[in-house]
Amino acid sequence: MQAEYKARREQLMEKIGTGTAVFRSAPMAVMHNDVEYVFRQDSDFFYLTGFNEPEAVAVLAPHHEEHQFILFVQPKDPEKEVWTGYRTGVEAAKEKYGADEAYPIAELDEKLPQYLINADRIYYHLGRDRDFNQTLLTHWQRLMMGYAKRGTGPIAIESTNPILHAMRLVKSPSELEMMRKAAAISVEAHNHARHFAQPGRNEYEVQAEIEHLFRLRGAIGPAYPSIVASGANACILHYIENNRQMQDNELLLIDAGCAYGYYNADITRTFPVGKKFTPEQKALYEIVLEAQLHAIAQVQPGNPYNLFHDTAVRVLVEGLVDLGILKGEIDQLIEEEKYKPYYMHRTGHWLGLDVHDVGVYKHGENWQTLQSGHIVTVEPGLYIGSNVKPAEEQPEPHERWRGIGIRIEDDVLVTPEGQEVLTAGVPKSVEEMER
Ligand code: GLY
Ligand code: MN
Ligand code: MN
Repeated sequence: MQAEYKARREQLMEKIGTGTAVFRSAPMAVMHNDVEYVFRQDSDFFYLTGFNEPEAVAVLAPHHEEHQFILFVQPKDPEKEVWTGYRTGVEAAKEKYGADEAYPIAELDEKLPQYLINADRIYYHLGRDRDFNQTLLTHWQRLMMGYAKRGTGPIAIESTNPILHAMRLVKSPSELEMMRKAAAISVEAHNHARHFAQPGRNEYEVQAEIEHLFRLRGAIGPAYPSIVASGANACILHYIENNRQMQDNELLLIDAGCAYGYYNADITRTFPVGKKFTPEQKALYEIVLEAQLHAIAQVQPGNPYNLFHDTAVRVLVEGLVDLGILKGEIDQLIEEEKYKPYYMHRTGHWLGLDVHDVGVYKHGENWQTLQSGHIVTVEPGLYIGSNVKPAEEQPEPHERWRGIGIRIEDDVLVTPEGQEVLTAGVPKSVEEMER
């Protein structure tokens, strides 16, 4: 893996040429008082270094004479390590992580300027760590004070994101291996959950079964808070209370995926808690499924990013018109977004090191073109909330549709020939959802 991190750094350095890039590790997040959440490295930092400790800074200085990759890290401290766990330390930062030079983080202010002073710009994304943003701006300000005398130095700060996130968008074979593993574990958990869910059981019991399997299979845990939403709870997109007893004749929507190492899966299935769909549930389910299948078929190299979303919207709107939930002419209903009360989110997002992964969707007016190695989720849904207000000039949905929420979500890899559904191991046909 070290060779791959190195190759990524070299690819980035080639693009930044005479600039210097600076990356800050993720902060430790506080759960309460002096208890902290389990540390997770910032995805950009991890992508370039594989180094997963806090209080670190990575510098890439392609033009520097001696050191191109520099790490600032927490030094070894046996007394502290007894409490906080193992630290790599300065020496091993060079040996294990391939840094040309490494320093204790306390020496940042002293050692950083030598890597910035001859750069023509600083590549740094102003992030959530405001203190570090300030540290960097202060360094920049100091260097600029001497600019008149030297005539060299960084005259601008530029975000690294456009370069780095374009790289992250295309998954390498080793990243794909991790994504497949995350998908496989999540698939197993969904298949187990579908058999486990029964009328009378609680949503949190299903959640526990899913997350138990995640950990049992070596995943770190959920990639995002698991959504186990029965009945009308499914109409709340980010319902995570998961504390309701499930009833017969209801649907259960499960949106859950694991983080395997630093890579994530994101799967949703919706199925009857009891044995069969009601006619209304089935009618809506079939529309969402058809929308999802048509959308997946549009995940192809060369297609603009929005095509699978637009495809899903059209199928959903046609279906809603057939059922009389929407009234009017299809193109106009789409144009005027009359479906929005029942379908308010987009049909997918990039997936990778982040669940909502980085990378641009649009370049000005032009949508990103899908290419082999991209991974997207495809997740259309319909949500006829109990109290939903229809769009202007649209009918009130009949009582019998109310309280039904459905989403079907898969993780789809763009391949040279078309697409591969990484999460195809969870069934989704009407017959397979019933029992
Ligand atoms: N589970 C988050 C999402 O589907 O985007
Ligand atoms: Mn999801
Ligand atoms: Mn998703």
